[in-house]
Amino acid sequence: MAAQRELHDFFFKEAKRKGYRSRAAYKLSEIDDKRDVLHKGDFVLDLGAAPGSWLQIISERIGEHGKVIGVDLKAIDDGLPNNVVTIQEDVNLLTPQNLTTVLGTRFREFDVILSDMAPSTTGTRTIDHHGSVILCHAALDLSATLLKPHGNLVMKVLEGEAYPELLKRCANCFDSVKGFKPKASRAISTEMFLVCLNRNEDMPKPLEPAPAPPTSGW
Ligand SMILES: C[S@@+](CC[C@H](N)C(=O)[O-])C[C@H]1O[C@@H](n2cnc3c(N)ncnc32)[C@H](O)[C@@H]1O
Repeated sequence: MAAQRELHDFFFKEAKRKGYRSRAAYKLSEIDDKRDVLHKGDFVLDLGAAPGSWLQIISERIGEHGKVIGVDLKAIDDGLPNNVVTIQEDVNLLTPQNLTTVLGTRFREFDVILSDMAPSTTGTRTIDHHGSVILCHAALDLSATLLKPHGNLVMKVLEGEAYPELLKRCANCFDSVKGFKPKASRAISTEMFLVCLNRNEDMPKPLEPAPAPPTSGW
């Protein structure tokens, strides 16, 4: 436990020292180092992007010829690099049409979609788990319309009973789907990341509907 707290403090201090907006930056860095998700020149969609530390990492890794669009319910403070655009919006309202309007350019599909979205936490593990799984299904549904064939999707999920169904739905759409727990995630947290690589060319648009969450008991 003490070792975990030390590790947490280490990432917190490192983020401050390097000017990252949160220690979550180190989660994405490690995922990308190990799973090779982002590439120079990529066009990336970051769902649940506030306060913006993933945007900072993505911006570095895609370079000046890449572009990243960060979307969040909350406003994201200015001061991000030139290859970052932010949108204050509910991701459930994103469509190719409204992205075209907001960005002022013809819509093109993304190379990578990332989601660090989290529901407002209640502290009740089952409720938070189902809230997180609903956000993951929303990110997966968006991949059917917004992600290129052969593109990659990474999303945060709080593990629990609905995780196997989510995994199955992802496995129907991508060549490789694996869970990943970065060192910067607290060991006691149920948080982990689903890394889905190489979107199938024949992913249906729209996807079969996600399984309904339980209506009681959470
Ligand atoms: C853990 S934070 C993301 C941290 C971010 N990756 C970073 O590195 O700074 C989760 C975010 O998900 C956002 N979120 C949750 N549901 C959302 C939704 N439906 N649409 C857009 N953003 C959402 C929250 O507002 C919150 O800012």
